[in-house]
Amino acid sequence: RFDRAIRPKTLADYIGQPVVCEQMNIFVSAARMRSEPLDHTLIFGPPGLGKTTLANILANEMGVSLKTTSGPVLEKAGDLAALMTNLDAGDVLFIDEIHRLSSNIEEILYPAMEDYQLDIMIGEGPAARSIKLDLPPFTLVGATTRAGLLTSPLRDRFGIVQRLEFYGVNDLTTIVSRSAEILGMQLDRDGAYEIALRSRGTPRIANRLLRRVRDYAEVKSDGRVSKEIADQALNMLNVDGIGFDHLDRRLLLMMIERFGGGPVGVDSLAAAISEERGTIEDVLEPYLIQQGFIIRTPRGRVVTNHAYRHFGLPMPKSDDDGG
Ligand code: ADE
Repeated sequence: RFDRAIRPKTLADYIGQPVVCEQMNIFVSAARMRSEPLDHTLIFGPPGLGKTTLANILANEMGVSLKTTSGPVLEKAGDLAALMTNLDAGDVLFIDEIHRLSSNIEEILYPAMEDYQLDIMIGEGPAARSIKLDLPPFTLVGATTRAGLLTSPLRDRFGIVQRLEFYGVNDLTTIVSRSAEILGMQLDRDGAYEIALRSRGTPRIANRLLRRVRDYAEVKSDGRVSKEIADQALNMLNVDGIGFDHLDRRLLLMMIERFGGGPVGVDSLAAAISEERGTIEDVLEPYLIQQGFIIRTPRGRVVTNHAYRHFGLPMPKSDDDGG
């Protein structure tokens, strides 16, 4: 609810990601000075870091409209053709989960990206014909959780590639403080910091926890969020002191208790915790790896000493995992 209200609309309001912001400021300014569309841009990074937000900001900074779709939604060539022929010059076409495009649709994208040419087949059998249409110059913004999931011909057609990183605690503190102000909440600096510490480096999680902490503060207290109230609310939500939730703990404990700390293959882990492999790879694992709780080896995933320490469990004898 009202997510739109707390999403930043300009690069100046976008907190953190300094490398991305500095580069995009330059590329947007240059494209505007030349009255050209922004070059095709690929944004990759774990879920919740602001890929969609950034796509909207780029369209806004370019002064154009944004049309949104996603890889799994585009089934037929005609679906994409309909979207592209409806663009105005300079518009942004945003394709979320672009790694999930079918190959026939991907092939339509290549000439569209390179030459603003739409080249599709209509009809079937002997009556089939290929038609070519000129498209308005446009910007394709693609988003994906991992750049490695894209085929190389598609990846190579993006002139700009940006990787979003997990946010540090200070940036997240600023983000939740800003959101609290927009939501009309009273959030102490210490309260904001506590939420930031426990948000897995992820603004979407920080903003979700902020709303739940607000609920708690309004019902259990006077609505003001201090460090103590934030701490109580987050404990109630089963978010631990370093921001791990139920699933993070389940994954780590499964690795320790069932698989002796690893190495264990991701498919075995997925079966053991009844989650999809993709959820582990895209949602759970990136933060646990970034924080040094898991490492990836050629033989599978291994938990580090860090993880044993976090749970207060004894470390196994042979420890060559460097954690
Ligand atoms: N909300 C989500 N991501 C954000 C960011 N990077 N800056 C400000 N607000 C945000």
